[in-house]
Amino acid sequence: MQPPTVFQFFNEVINQKPAPIQSIEEIRKELLQNEELISIQDFGAGSVLNKNTNRSINYIARTSSSSVKFSCFLKRVADYIDAKNILELGTSFGLNTSYLANKKDAQVTTIEGSQEIAAVALNNFQKLKFNNIKLVQANIDNVLPVVLSEIAPLDLVYIDANHTFDATISYFNQIQPFLTDSSILIVDDIHWSDGMYKAWKELCSRKEVSLSIDIFDAGLLFFKSGLTKSHYTIKF
Ligand SMILES: C[S@@+](CC[C@H](N)C(=O)[O-])C[C@H]1O[C@@H](n2cnc3c(N)ncnc32)[C@H](O)[C@@H]1O
Repeated sequence: MQPPTVFQFFNEVINQKPAPIQSIEEIRKELLQNEELISIQDFGAGSVLNKNTNRSINYIARTSSSSVKFSCFLKRVADYIDAKNILELGTSFGLNTSYLANKKDAQVTTIEGSQEIAAVALNNFQKLKFNNIKLVQANIDNVLPVVLSEIAPLDLVYIDANHTFDATISYFNQIQPFLTDSSILIVDDIHWSDGMYKAWKELCSRKEVSLSIDIFDAGLLFFKSGLTKSHYTIKF
């Protein structure tokens, strides 16, 4: 993507008003009001692997889901590149998955490790009548190679799972061979911790990455070959 195209990406994707999808926002509202406790296995940063804890659905929805604005942004990215094959790491309750799957000709594969969180997500996908989402309930570390070999090549990848340096680098190393010249990879929460920011900076420096855009909530990586490597920080 050449700089004028970056300008186009900014105008058509980043600098756009959110267009919330009513049916998905109804689900978000329900989740934010749901006080039911579920048992979660926490695979994420700073937690003891597989430690079981009970948390309310509304607490998880409040703390783990991204904003409506960001969900709408993800959909715009998918539309912009006409993504047909999408991978999400870290489903949670499937709100962003749903925005991505709203592109009817796209197939979305999403991986969630926590069994009861995945069950809530599946229920949401059924309520929304999606038949283009495949939810894999497993630890990403155990299944990513097989999932990638089954679904590649990938147009769009959204990473929002284990927010550590090591996990982020490992996800990238495994995914990158399955990307194409026109793929976009989005890493969520790049400013969440020193480790995530260090991972982001390392990914930007990789030779396969031709363009990186820091929108603060997330970082976007582009892989088009033959371009002069460039980096932008853009207010989202
Ligand atoms: C921040 S939430 C994802 C939010 C979701 N993308 C959204 O915005 O709606 C991160 C999710 O990743 C899951 N997760 C973290 N590490 C994982 C791993 N190693 N394997 C599978 N799931 C994992 C967590 O259980 C959690 O539900």
